[in-house]
Formats: sequence, C-alpha cells, structure tokens
Amino acid sequence: MYRTHNCGQLRLSDAGKEVTLAGWVQRARKMGGMTFVDLRDRYGLTQIVFNDDTDAALNARANHDLGREYVVQIKGTVAERTSKNPNLPTGDIEIIASDFKVLNPSEIPPFTIEDDTDGGDELRMRYRYLDLRRPSVRKNLELRHRMTMEVRRYLDSKGFLEIETPMLVGSTPEGARDFVVPSRMNPGQFYALPQSPQTLKQLLMVSGMDRYFQIVKCFRDEDLRADRQPEFTQIDCEMSYVEQEDVISLFEGMAKHLFKELRGVELTDPFPRMPWSEAMRLYGSDKPDTRFGMEFVELMDVMKGKGFPVFDSAAYIGGINAKGAASYTRKQVDQLTEFVKRPQIGAKGMVYARVEADGNVKSSVDKFYSQDDLQALKKAMNAESGDLILILSGDDAMKTRKQLCELRLEMGNRLGLRDKNKFSCLWVVDFPMFEWSDEEQRLMAMHHPFTHPKDEDIPLLDTDPAAVRADAYDMVVNGVEVGGGSIRIHDSELQAKMFEILGFTPEKAQEQFGFLMNAFKFGAPPHGGLAYGLDRWVSLFAGLDSIRDCIAFPKNNSGRDVMLDAPAPLDQKQLDELQLEVKDLKD
Ligand code: AMO
Repeated sequence: MYRTHNCGQLRLSDAGKEVTLAGWVQRARKMGGMTFVDLRDRYGLTQIVFNDDTDAALNARANHDLGREYVVQIKGTVAERTSKNPNLPTGDIEIIASDFKVLNPSEIPPFTIEDDTDGGDELRMRYRYLDLRRPSVRKNLELRHRMTMEVRRYLDSKGFLEIETPMLVGSTPEGARDFVVPSRMNPGQFYALPQSPQTLKQLLMVSGMDRYFQIVKCFRDEDLRADRQPEFTQIDCEMSYVEQEDVISLFEGMAKHLFKELRGVELTDPFPRMPWSEAMRLYGSDKPDTRFGMEFVELMDVMKGKGFPVFDSAAYIGGINAKGAASYTRKQVDQLTEFVKRPQIGAKGMVYARVEADGNVKSSVDKFYSQDDLQALKKAMNAESGDLILILSGDDAMKTRKQLCELRLEMGNRLGLRDKNKFSCLWVVDFPMFEWSDEEQRLMAMHHPFTHPKDEDIPLLDTDPAAVRADAYDMVVNGVEVGGGSIRIHDSELQAKMFEILGFTPEKAQEQFGFLMNAFKFGAPPHGGLAYGLDRWVSLFAGLDSIRDCIAFPKNNSGRDVMLDAPAPLDQKQLDELQLEVKDLKD
C-alpha cells in the first residue's frame, strides 16, 4: 500500500496513529537538528519532521536526499504540533518520520510550485503539468468538475438525454471561421470541426429525442480574448414543443441551481429581462454589466447647437455620471482621455464636467457653454456636487455607444463597482434578426440562420428585414455572455426564405443545409434551445480574469499550445498521404 492517508486528511484526533503518506516535497527546511518537509498532494499539505533526537541517521539522509518536487513515501507517527498553523487544515499536527523512500527524484522545477509563484505566464504554460500542481489552479479544475456534475444532475432530473454528436462534420455557421481537417480517404476534401452542434441537435429533435444535452467541445477560429478560446466547452441543450418562455425558465432554474450548489448564493427573484435595444441605449452593449448603474444619458438636446463644433456635427452625444469622482486630478482625467483614444476603442476625445462643492459646473469646454447650459447638463445627468460627468460624441451612434461602454466599464473598475463576489444576472431579449456586415456587404444572422423571427415581425421579412426581431435570448452575468439560444425555425419554407435574405442562392442553401431543410419535410416539431459557455461559468464562479485558468491545457493568445508546441508543420510523408501541398511561406 502506497499510503494510508492523503496529505490533507490528518487532524488532531489522529494523534498517535502510525501512517504512511505519499506526495511531492514542496519544501524542505533545515532548522537546528531538525528537518521540516512540506509534503503536498491534490488534497493538501502535511508537515513532516525529521529529528536528530529521534533518528540522526534518518535526518541526515532526509537532508541529503529530499529535493523540491521529489516524489516520496514517508512513514511516521501523527503528533500534535507545538506551533500550530491555523491557515492549514492539517495545521494542528505533524508527522514524526520513522522512515522514507524516494519514489522518484525531480529536476529543479522551473518555477516555485506554490500559489505565490515566481513563474511568468509563458513558462507556466510550457510546464502546465507543473502549474496544475499549484492549489489555486487545481481548485479551478475541481470547481469545473463539480459544475459538470451539477449540470448533469439538474438536466437529468428534467428528463434531458445526454447524446454525443460527431466532431468531424461539415461547416456549422456560428459566425466564426472553421477549423478544418483534411480527409485522407477523400483526397481534396475536408471535414470542419463543429463551431457548435447546432444543426445536429435540431436533427435530434426531428428524431423525437425531445430533450437533448451535451457537454461538448466547440471550435472557432476567431480572434482570442480573455473570455475566448479557439476550443471551448458548451453545455448545449435543445427541447421540443417549447416557446421562449419555457426555455428561459428551465435554464434560469439551472443557473439558480448552479449558484446555490457551487457558490452558496440563493437567487430567488426572476432574472430581469432587457430588450436588446434598451441594453444598447443604456449601456452600449448587448452584455451589460449591471452590477452598477452609470447608465448612458443621451445629450443631443442639451449639448448640441451651442457652438462647440465637435458636438454640433455629432450624430450621437452621450454621457455617464461617475459619482463621487469630481476629485479626479487633471492627470487622472488625461489618463481617461488616453484610454478612450486607444486604437482598440477609437474615440477622438473626451469632454468632462465636474460638479463642484458649490454646485457650479466646471467643464473642459467652458468657452462654448454658459453656466446655465452646464446646469442643464447637470440636471440631465442627475448629477450633484462631487460628481464627474464624462461625455463622448461621434458621427456613428452605435460606434460611439460602444466607446462609451468601454469608458463606463473602466470607470466601474476604477471606482471599485465591479466586485467579483457580487452577481448581477439578466436576460437580454428581442435581438434583431439580422445585422449588416460591412465586410461582407450583406445582412448576416445576428444569432444564427436557424433562429425564428418574432411571429409579429414575420411580415417585415419582405418589406424591412433589418427591423425584424428574433426569438433569441442571451443570459448575461456581470457583463459576461454566459449563454445564448433561440427558438428555431421548423418550417422548411420559412428556413428557405431566411437563407434567401442572407444571400444564399437556393442551390448554395441546398448544398450547405439541404440535410436540415429535407429533415424539416418529415415532421419537425417546434423546438428551441440554448448553449451555456462552461468555461465562462466556471471562471465567473472562481473569480478569474481569463477562462484560460479553468482549462487544463489552454491555448495562448496566438492560439498556440506552447507545451505541445502545436500547431506545427506536417512532415512531407503525411502531406503526400493527404495530397496536400503547402505554399512556401518564405516567398
Ligand atoms: P453562441 O455562439 O452564443 O451560441 O455560444 C453559446 C455560448 O458559448 C460561449 N462561447 C465561448 N466561450 C469561450 N470561447 C469562445 N470562443 C466562445 N464562443 C462562445 C458563450 C456563448 O454564450 N448554437 C448556439 C446556441 C443555441 O442557439 O442553442 C451557439 O453556439 O458563453
């Protein structure tokens, strides 16, 4: 037997027991005639003591043989510690060693394997298997495990069947580029990895599975961000004979279940619903962080036409009220201006106005506005003494709102309004069916092409498609889109019309989605569903800044796995088998 207990298990009540532990040497410290070893495994840390007084030869051997990250087996007796460590669950005891054996030595690790580490990002990713020994990282994987268990428990209790769908499929349209896999048996042809199992889960409804779910890898070749990975995991679901309300209520129930079981947070009220247009108007985002207010106020009436050329020519002027920030120094305000002018945000400039202690307003554009004008601004912004009003303008209302959204979030950070232990959930509903793509010069599906338009908006498909709203919904928690879904089209004619509006010729639609439209001819039930982003839920609950930290082996920002050194070139033999030629990239 390698061990009688694990390294997180022993307590004062075990004092006197003969035990055998196995684990990694986190540290060995020599103090006088004693050697203290911190022995670590997945379950915790236990202090081992070697003592000249009890066995000088053993102590000498421990001193000589035990290095950092050595795998060892230690026998000894549990004893009460004289100086207890209240921060450690095993902190009341230590093991007086009677023998030990090195099971495997270790090279000196490239960084300190403790929560407080000296390893940089790149190094820790290269040695991710060592990084995962750190309790803080391991905890995230434990949380992830518990979450998938709870998800399965909840969905099983609601009658969902877990069904796997293939990874080698054809293109699935979720708005990103596909990752493709060449087929050796079909030279010149490629599979695509699924961006989601969207069409397959709809086919499962046609098959009569009624309620489907899958915890499934999805692959999207898109620009990466803190909350995006090229391969990520969805909790993917579909239901038959449902309307939007049924889907929302079942998955709100699941969110509440997860909050309760994993965070101990009891959410009793229904999650608020916000139409997409209101989210854009008040927050400039379809995933507003509603942990704090600071809603946008449109200022066209108040600020336009007073001789300030920038505002006079603007299509949108909007402000936010940073409460209590009037004491911001010139330098701090300049930093904010620099912030909004960064190329990623792209504002041309920022106007600010302080409400001073006497109620007067002092602004960066005082020469264009009288104190009366500025008092009107103060009123519109619902501002009082001590507040700082920040204003952006632009010739494209949507773009300017998005810039103001970044500024609002930045101010939220600076003012400490985005507490990771506070949760604010909502549904964003009534999304537009389509959005215009400048790149493609055509309407694109905002959710995906299988989304059902709102019944009352169906006539607009012929007259004003841009005004059509969809039966689509996203769940947003703390400004993160944790899930999204829709009611689907189950009628092949309506689906064909949708493809037409999206610019597919009937032939192209048939070629790409013929399987689905044909299936709909054989009695497709009304259906709808949703997919949650598992990685995003875990990182939200764990308070992480990036979803990378809850993925065992993530990719870096250029989509590389630096541990496996992938992607990598193929050797010529493999290329020949696949009948692929690679362009010489040096040319
Ligand atoms: P959608 O594209 O909105 O919908 O994806 C669902 C959820 O998956 C998560 N997600 C991601 N997480 C990490 N990295 C990514 N690159 C990434 N992309 C998306 C988000 C998102 O809300 N088939 C539809 C669902 C449906 O209609 O039922 C779909 O995939 O949390």
